[in-house]
Amino acid sequence: MKVNVHRPRASRSVVTALSALLLGLVATLITIGSAHAAAGCKITYSTNDWGGGFTANLGITNLGDPVTSWTLEWDFAGNQQVGQGWSGTFTQSSKHVTVKSLSYNGGLATNASTSLGFNGSYSGTNTAPTTFKLNGTTCDGTAGPTPTPTPTPTDPGGDGSHAGNPFAGGKGYVNPEWSAEARGDGGTAVANQPTAVWLDRIAAINGVNGGMGLRAHLDAALSQGAGYAQFVIYDLPGRDCAALASNGELGATDIGRYQSEYIDPIASIMADSKYANLKIVTYIEPDSLPNLVTNVSGNTAIAACQTMQQNGNYIKGVQYALNKLHAISNVYTYLDAAHHGWLGWDSNLGPAAQLFATMAQGTTAGVNSVDGFVVNTANYSPTTEPYLPVNDQTRQSKWVDWNYYVDESSFGAAFRQKLIFDGFPSGIGMVIDTSRNGWGGSSRPTGPSTASDINTQVNAERVDRRPHVGDWCNQSGAGLGARPTAAPASGFDAYAWVKPPGESDGASSAIPNDEGKGFDRMCDPTYGGNVLNGNNPSGALANAPLSGHWFSAQFHQLLQNAYPAVS
Ligand code: BGC
Repeated sequence: MKVNVHRPRASRSVVTALSALLLGLVATLITIGSAHAAAGCKITYSTNDWGGGFTANLGITNLGDPVTSWTLEWDFAGNQQVGQGWSGTFTQSSKHVTVKSLSYNGGLATNASTSLGFNGSYSGTNTAPTTFKLNGTTCDGTAGPTPTPTPTPTDPGGDGSHAGNPFAGGKGYVNPEWSAEARGDGGTAVANQPTAVWLDRIAAINGVNGGMGLRAHLDAALSQGAGYAQFVIYDLPGRDCAALASNGELGATDIGRYQSEYIDPIASIMADSKYANLKIVTYIEPDSLPNLVTNVSGNTAIAACQTMQQNGNYIKGVQYALNKLHAISNVYTYLDAAHHGWLGWDSNLGPAAQLFATMAQGTTAGVNSVDGFVVNTANYSPTTEPYLPVNDQTRQSKWVDWNYYVDESSFGAAFRQKLIFDGFPSGIGMVIDTSRNGWGGSSRPTGPSTASDINTQVNAERVDRRPHVGDWCNQSGAGLGARPTAAPASGFDAYAWVKPPGESDGASSAIPNDEGKGFDRMCDPTYGGNVLNGNNPSGALANAPLSGHWFSAQFHQLLQNAYPAVS
């Protein structure tokens, strides 16, 4: 791990083909909510005109209650005619245009946005329409009346039902092995923080090279009087299909071994009644399902990910893990949902939520087998960007690149709502891995910029100092982020340190090893990048060891640039 990919907009040919397909169907508009649902919307409309033709770009922001599909309407003032459109099904009757959402972009949470556009023709002047309606409501930029909220059922907790927030009400297990590394390397101030234990190979279940195995960790958690302990389930067949640094021990077809030699023994240890009062948090298979969303077609297709899609072993493996782990009443399951710089674009966010939902529906307990989602696992995306607004101008910058999200708080909240629309229980909780997303130190911006050039402005405002949001390996300049915190915000179960700070993301040059790990040039500081990071520098630190191995120089930098600062 950890690769990041973006595909800002679905390719036009794909969208056009989809639109053409949908045009032949009679779409039924379904709007969620009661007759009293609050409605409200904001539309942006801009065109690039040339002799007789134009391209229009529209942005929809839903200011009302969540919707699962939308219809946008307007009347042209002149004689404009819509031609090819994308991200919607367009029909025009005289001056009246109707656009219906597609399957992947119909769900809009409150305050969520999506974009669409079309090529058109005109004569005379190309006057922009002034009035737009979304699902029948005129979009005047305000939210309608707020309906009485439906109370969310409160969770009594402690009944082994998975309900509630496992991070609340007890301290987190401190991994003594990580703690000793941190304390021995100048990190005494943070060495008492809970971090996740990565079960990154079959041998880790019993302990690698005399180190602690799963039972030893659970026993230590009991003796610490911990309320919860965290484990990363990370050994899928064909692991890390879009990168090389964390390729694993199991080949693409080794699903049988994954089930019987990896998940089964883990589940059997976790199910030991001795641990019944400990809440066991599992983070399931980072990067796997997000890779199936973005890295199987188009210009970001990667053969190893196509293989994992075709043989179904990522889906089968995750379903198997959920079936076994969810069945244990004190084990909590969090699926990895990448980060804003990967799934944040709306052409990725919708399909990702649908893939998660379809996958979960195929488990024994259906969508209830998932307790929540973790974002930013082992990544560097900030929890919040305090000085960088998302608006029509900043979205055009190279950094934002049309994304509606620039940080994990906004992405996590929006993705959570989308997941709930797609069928997940309303109680699902998000976790943000804040282990290395602090971006403090002397390079941290201190306020908004007044630069007139949009790229200069955005680059001066962003706290995320990476060359590109797709950079993921040992990022230079990063700092420790928020210390682990339970229930930091509504809908969020925790800020957690899932990636143990100080452990490398990958070697900066090829290092022979028996862990199955390859050399990924995204970890090489001299690399100029590829399509996945917009051909930008890798931003990686030099002299890095293999992924998972202690990287002292990185740990020192994380302490130095911690935000909040380490006292
Ligand atoms: C590595 C694992 C390691 C984990 C936590 C991953 O990138 O592949 O071996 O346990 O990071 O450091």
